[in-house]
Amino acid sequence: MTLILDADDLVGVLDYPTAIEAVEGAFRDLGSGKVVMPVRLTIRVEAHEGVSAFMPAYLPGKDQLGIKVVSAFGRNREKFGLPTVIGSILLLDAKSGMPMAIVDGTYVTAVRTAAASAVATKYMAREDASTLGIFGSGVQGETHLLAISEVRRLDGAVVNSRDPKRCEDFCERMSKKTGIKVRPGRPQQVAESDIVVTATTSKTPVFDGSWVKRGTHI
Ligand SMILES: NC(=O)c1ccc[n+]([C@@H]2O[C@H](COP(=O)([O-])OP(=O)(O)OC[C@H]3O[C@@H](n4cnc5c(N)ncnc54)[C@H](OP(=O)(O)O)[C@@H]3O)[C@@H](O)[C@H]2O)c1
Repeated sequence: MTLILDADDLVGVLDYPTAIEAVEGAFRDLGSGKVVMPVRLTIRVEAHEGVSAFMPAYLPGKDQLGIKVVSAFGRNREKFGLPTVIGSILLLDAKSGMPMAIVDGTYVTAVRTAAASAVATKYMAREDASTLGIFGSGVQGETHLLAISEVRRLDGAVVNSRDPKRCEDFCERMSKKTGIKVRPGRPQQVAESDIVVTATTSKTPVFDGSWVKRGTHI
């Protein structure tokens, strides 16, 4: 029987330390040639300003086989009240090809993406990096704050996004959730942080590169 897991099933079991460790392990397996992972296929859905990416992988050593489909439809929030990025995962039995599970991939992708940034931050940011600047107060703004606070001791975070009210609400909610002082700021203040996250859907630059300090991790 195929198991069906939705986001509620995952929220309680996939925490950030687990995700960061899993992503680091996956990068290591990939780097040491233990993963069969064809280049992802993408389909542009021009009529609806979207793109869907199809990403299969097979881990022979672990007998794991599956595919994740992730779509990014930039106007989902305003048109349907849906997330910009939506994912689904199909896991197959590597011995027979039988479908084992269909798993919500939206939460997994939101956490996994930030976990990858946390792995990069763990190894590449300065040890004493303590201020985080985030462009974007959406899904990735949130998951990046949660993931990066696992790998560096943050004194505070400053956030900039388009709609000031949404940005303020985000800062208030995330301050309560993390215990870190999260406040809205101007683009230059965000860019001057020790670690900078760019998590917007903007198609044009959101800050001037000359504002970035030497030694910043982006
Ligand atoms: N969600 C995922 O799992 C995931 C995974 C991989 C990659 N990504 C990529 O990460 C990026 C962010 O995705 P998301 O899911 O976080 O999107 P989201 O929830 O829709 O949030 C997008 C954020 O970008 C802000 N923004 C848009 N244009 C801006 C501008 N010109 N200046 C400043 N802020 C601006 C928005 O501001 P307002 O709040 O004012 O609208 C919003 O806060 C996208 O490029 C997406 O493709 C997302």
